[in-house]
Amino acid sequence: MLNTVNFNPRRILLDPTSVCNLRCVQCHNATGLDPIYHIDMKRVDELVEMSKSEPGMLVSLTGKGDILCHPQWKEMLRRLDTCDNLTSMFYTNALLLKDSDIDFCWNLKNLKVMHVSIDAANAESYRNIRGGDFNKLKKILSALGFHPKAKALRMSMTVMKENVNQMKDFVDLAVEVGFHAVSFQAIFNRPYTPIKTPKGFVFDNSQVLLAPEIEDRVVEAAEYGKKKHLFVDTEQLGYMKDKHPIMFWHKFFFDTWLKKAMDITSGEREEDEKSEIRSLLKARPACLRPWTELSHIDEGWRVCCMQFHDSVLGGKDATLQEAWNSPQMQRIRDELLNHKCPPECDPVHCEIAAKLDTKITDKRYHRKF
Ligand SMILES: C[S@@+](CC[C@H](N)C(=O)[O-])C[C@H]1O[C@@H](n2cnc3c(N)ncnc32)[C@H](O)[C@@H]1O
Ligand code: SF4
Ligand code: SF4
Repeated sequence: MLNTVNFNPRRILLDPTSVCNLRCVQCHNATGLDPIYHIDMKRVDELVEMSKSEPGMLVSLTGKGDILCHPQWKEMLRRLDTCDNLTSMFYTNALLLKDSDIDFCWNLKNLKVMHVSIDAANAESYRNIRGGDFNKLKKILSALGFHPKAKALRMSMTVMKENVNQMKDFVDLAVEVGFHAVSFQAIFNRPYTPIKTPKGFVFDNSQVLLAPEIEDRVVEAAEYGKKKHLFVDTEQLGYMKDKHPIMFWHKFFFDTWLKKAMDITSGEREEDEKSEIRSLLKARPACLRPWTELSHIDEGWRVCCMQFHDSVLGGKDATLQEAWNSPQMQRIRDELLNHKCPPECDPVHCEIAAKLDTKITDKRYHRKF
């Protein structure tokens, strides 16, 4: 039965907290009205337990707020570091990092990537968009980048009218502070509540640039990055051509990471697992994500791309193992095996779901958070 699996998710996303020290204008957190939520450490422990039987699990820590606002963020990373076969990475605005925190992070063996969201290449735009102190940020970035034990460091810009002319400067900034990669992310095209910052900057839907509108600029920045020996995340270019944010993830997972993740030749897998994975690939479900990943957001386990759907897998109290093969998950897998669109899927932002869902016509790009 391919709807119940004996292998574990390869990628897990944990949303550590809804609390954030910033109020970036484009973020759902800008209102500061999200209810306060910190992930329970028992979720981390479930994951640590699961990693014992799953080779090479990837854990990304990101979500609604900033991990550094979780009161036990260090303990969380410390526990993930007890696993033998796990890679962790986290997203942050970095402004709360002290020197001792940076030492702590770069001494962890499993933390391999840190992603810092910046959105601007100069102090004025940084203040307009993120409301933070750019000089302070640059000191922190340099401390991260030039630390003797630094691992992979990537910085990102969510592109909008305010910063669209700063892409090359952003590449220069990355080089200046010792980072290894930059990525440019298209802003979600959703209705935004207009915001006027104390310095008079106005953010509203007129700031939105759709992915195709920035594609040429990203190509240009990638060329510039090459000259500077800096990696510009070109995975995103493929996604941009397809216009959908989730298509980026889809392309990324299917074309690169997932192939590795599902590597059936991995010597570390039991023979029965290998044959289960072979059968699954042969059955060609419309999408493989419900066989490969899980996320913990707010009050429960979900498939990563279903984070905005109300229902959680197996209910709020389900453990990671229970959620993974819950009746709801089995039904979702069945539907995808039969090329039907599960109601949890989001045809507004997911190209695969849109193709499966014949009812969807004019609602694309208009997701409500
Ligand atoms: C919500 S944040 C959470 C993690 C952390 N606080 C940070 O800023 O990296 C995750 C990512 O979403 C991006 N983001 C925020 N609002 C967005 C929007 N409206 N469209 C696209 N990306 C957005 C942020 O820039 C960040 O890279
Ligand atoms: S730092 Fe991250 S979570 Fe916080 S407001 Fe900015 S984008 Fe949102
Ligand atoms: S929304 Fe559904 S079809 Fe789209 S990536 Fe997620 S699981 Fe796959």
